[in-house]
Amino acid sequence: MQSDIFGQPISLTTPVAIEAWNETMMGFLAHAAATPRHLATVLGEAPNFAMGYAVKGLFYLLLGRRELLETAREAMDAAWVAKRRIGVDQREVLYVDALAAWMAGQPNGSIAAMEQVLDLYPQDTLAMKLSQAIRFVLGDADGMRWSVERVLPTYQPDHAGRGYLLGCYAFALEETGDYDRARIAGRQALWLAPNDAWGLHAVAHVHDMTCNARAGLDWLAGREAAWAHCNNFRYHVWWHKALMHLDLCQIDEVIALYDTEIRKDKTDDYRDISNATSLLVRLELDGVDVGDRWEELADLSADRTEDGCLIFADLHSQTPRR
Ligand SMILES: [Fe+2]
Repeated sequence: MQSDIFGQPISLTTPVAIEAWNETMMGFLAHAAATPRHLATVLGEAPNFAMGYAVKGLFYLLLGRRELLETAREAMDAAWVAKRRIGVDQREVLYVDALAAWMAGQPNGSIAAMEQVLDLYPQDTLAMKLSQAIRFVLGDADGMRWSVERVLPTYQPDHAGRGYLLGCYAFALEETGDYDRARIAGRQALWLAPNDAWGLHAVAHVHDMTCNARAGLDWLAGREAAWAHCNNFRYHVWWHKALMHLDLCQIDEVIALYDTEIRKDKTDDYRDISNATSLLVRLELDGVDVGDRWEELADLSADRTEDGCLIFADLHSQTPRR
């Protein structure tokens, strides 16, 4: 059996499929916009790769958009067909189980499946990241920390996912209030994985929570390449930078970031709407006239009020029409 970039057994057989799968996993860890393209290459090359369909479905569920539930269901069906057709090992079955659990309305079951993978394969960085991602949308900060801490000692210094693991550790430490260690872990993460936007973001959170906007701006300055490759997550990092400027009453910088980065693309992803609305509210509370910037957010949000498939998204994406 072949191995992936993390040394885990993988049922893929061709070099093209394995390379694309490695890029898919590394892309997901880096929040890269290119991740779906890599996964499409994998499934084009290996149409019986059940684990690939399972991960595709989980990615779609994490987006919290109702129209993508059907796409996730199709991915689950494809995973089941592939699993029956060629059979898969225990690790890959657990990924299919994770998708099935969430599709049945039990994201905690998905987490449990990922933790079962980590029981058997603690150096499976993809399972670690998926566990953190699902715990994140469920608000399980203690679980995020526990999940990382139990696999951390098994990672050798040359493990390809070690930087991203430390980035996830930094975020879990920050979310559980251990700010000094979070800052150190995040810096180590970026040193090992310069495109680890999640680790960079964890340190930004530390500076936010400790009310040190100047240190936060110093941290982000010159590190733009760490989030330039990202999917919608890049807007969120820019949002953090805008908050730092707002703390320093640098309103012109906030408005400029809003117009040129945070709302550069008029997207309706709940995270993007949340970034924008929470920034406009803060500006208005400070007495700033934000002009007609609410209007496009209200129009986009009006079409998303019935999503109702991810409570984390629902609570973040409601924008009142004014
Ligand atoms: Fe954040």
